[in-house]
Order: sequence, then C-alpha cells, then structure tokens
Amino acid sequence: MSGTNKPWPVLDESEAPPEIDVTVPSVARMYDYILGGRDNYAVDREAVEGLMRENPGAQALAVDNRAFMRRAVRFLVEVAGIRQFVDIGSGLPTRQNVHQIAHSVDPGARVVYVDNDPIVLAHGRALLADNATTTVIDADAADPAAIFDNPETRKFIDVDRPYAVVMVGLLHWIPDADDPAGTVAYIRHLMPSGSYLAATNLLADDDPRADGVEKSLTSRVGGGFFRPWEKHREYFEGLRLVEPGLVYANDWRPDRWPSSDDSYATLLTGGVGRKP
Ligand SMILES: C[S@@+](CC[C@H](N)C(=O)[O-])C[C@H]1O[C@@H](n2cnc3c(N)ncnc32)[C@H](O)[C@@H]1O
Repeated sequence: MSGTNKPWPVLDESEAPPEIDVTVPSVARMYDYILGGRDNYAVDREAVEGLMRENPGAQALAVDNRAFMRRAVRFLVEVAGIRQFVDIGSGLPTRQNVHQIAHSVDPGARVVYVDNDPIVLAHGRALLADNATTTVIDADAADPAAIFDNPETRKFIDVDRPYAVVMVGLLHWIPDADDPAGTVAYIRHLMPSGSYLAATNLLADDDPRADGVEKSLTSRVGGGFFRPWEKHREYFEGLRLVEPGLVYANDWRPDRWPSSDDSYATLLTGGVGRKP
C-alpha cells in the first residue's frame, strides 16, 4: 500500500473524541486510507494492509468506486441539470467531494451528506462550518425515513423538486437482513419524478476472488457483501437507466480508454437511473 510511509501525520489515537472507537476498524476510515487520506488510525491501516495481503490489488475497487462517484455526479449536475443531492454513505471528506463537483457548475447547488460513522459527522461539520449550501447528518441508511424527515434535510432539499440520491459505495455494507433493496425501493418511492439514483455494489458473478474479498472484509468490518447482477438490477426497478445502463463501474461513461487497468474491475457495478 502506498500509504504505509506517509509523509504527513495521521490521526493520533490519544486525541480521538470519545464517540470514536479507535480499537476497531471503520469502513469510512479504511476507505480514507486507501484513497491516500490521513483521517485514519493504526487499526484501520492494519485492516487495509491485511485485506491487501489476502487480496493483492483489491484496493483498486475503492479507487474505481470513487472515480465512478465523480463521473456520476458530474453527469448529474452537467447533463441532467440536478441541483440537489442526498449523498448517503458519503464517507470522510476527501478530494472532489459531491458538493465540490456540484459547486464547480452551480455554487448554489444543495448537498446533504449522510453517514452513520461519527468520524464523518465530526470532520464533515468542521469542513462545512461556513458552507450555506451543504450539510452533514448522522443517520442510518437502513432507516430512510429518518434521513428524509430530518429537519436538516428538509432545510437544504426541496423534496417536491427533483433531486439525486447518491448511494455509491454504500449498499454492500448493508446486510440482506436489513433489506438494502427494500431501502432503495422506499427511497425511489419518495423521489419526485425527474429525480435520479446513482449506486454501486460489489458483484458476485462466478469470480472466485469475490468470495475472497468478501471474507476478508466481513471478518474485519462485518460487511462488504458481494451480490449477483439481479440484486443490483432491483435497486433500479421502475427507473430509466441512463446510457450505458448498469455496467461494471469503470465502464460507466469512462473518461479514459481503455476504461480500466484494474484486474478487479469486474467485481463492482455502477448505474444511474431516472424516475420517469
Ligand atoms: C466506502 S465509503 C463510500 C464513500 C463515498 N460514498 C464514495 O463512494 O466515495 C462507505 C461509507 O458508507 C458508510 N455507511 C456504511 N453503512 C452505513 C449505513 N448503514 N448508514 C449510513 N452510512 C453507512 C460508511 O460509514 C462509509 O463512510
């Protein structure tokens, strides 16, 4: 992992706020580490290093996922004309977050970040303190009513006008028992016509590596569920998929060709759908 010998300091466990558990790895902080961030602790870095030892090269899945998010949001703001975003499972602020991409086109675009990891809330609040168009709330994706009824969401998002729900890099952390497809269906039902959903999920499609990465992830962070194509299609039921449809994430409107040099690219799908 390139992040092992960081030229800048990472977070100090002894200064962690009490709501942050530095003894167990967190998905948000591990993802931050893979993407070259410094908002992570030793326990997160060790978890990532272990994952990479067991599945060499699999960190590319995080990089690809983030790249899909950027292309999807750019499409939503530049082509689809969307100006309101609810980014669920937003993760720690890193380079080119949803609000920065949206604001590069329209500084008035509204963004509500949602995450259930306390570190995201703490860092998001600090980053967005003076931002009148963007906020962050602490909520569980499996309880979408708590997200969309939240007064902070209502303050930033006009729910009667089209908005985009971004669930990128999120759904594979929600176990089947918490019904991710049902959660997305509930959100689709709430969205007014003209709204969009952008989503990715790790893919189980007869590639034995899926099993290996899933085992490594679930044993460390209790999630990272690879699902078959039909489960991914369920997320977009009733929506019109934007071209090229639901595809490997790197093949969704790639901004380079070949679209990928990642051998794990067939283990992550991405799609964007519009509610008619
Ligand atoms: C891999 S990061 C994805 C970050 C960002 N969306 C992206 O694609 O670059 C996944 C994020 O989802 C959050 N998450 C996982 N399960 C969640 C849940 N049930 N409710 C809200 N957030 C959740 C994690 O805390 C983490 O920050």
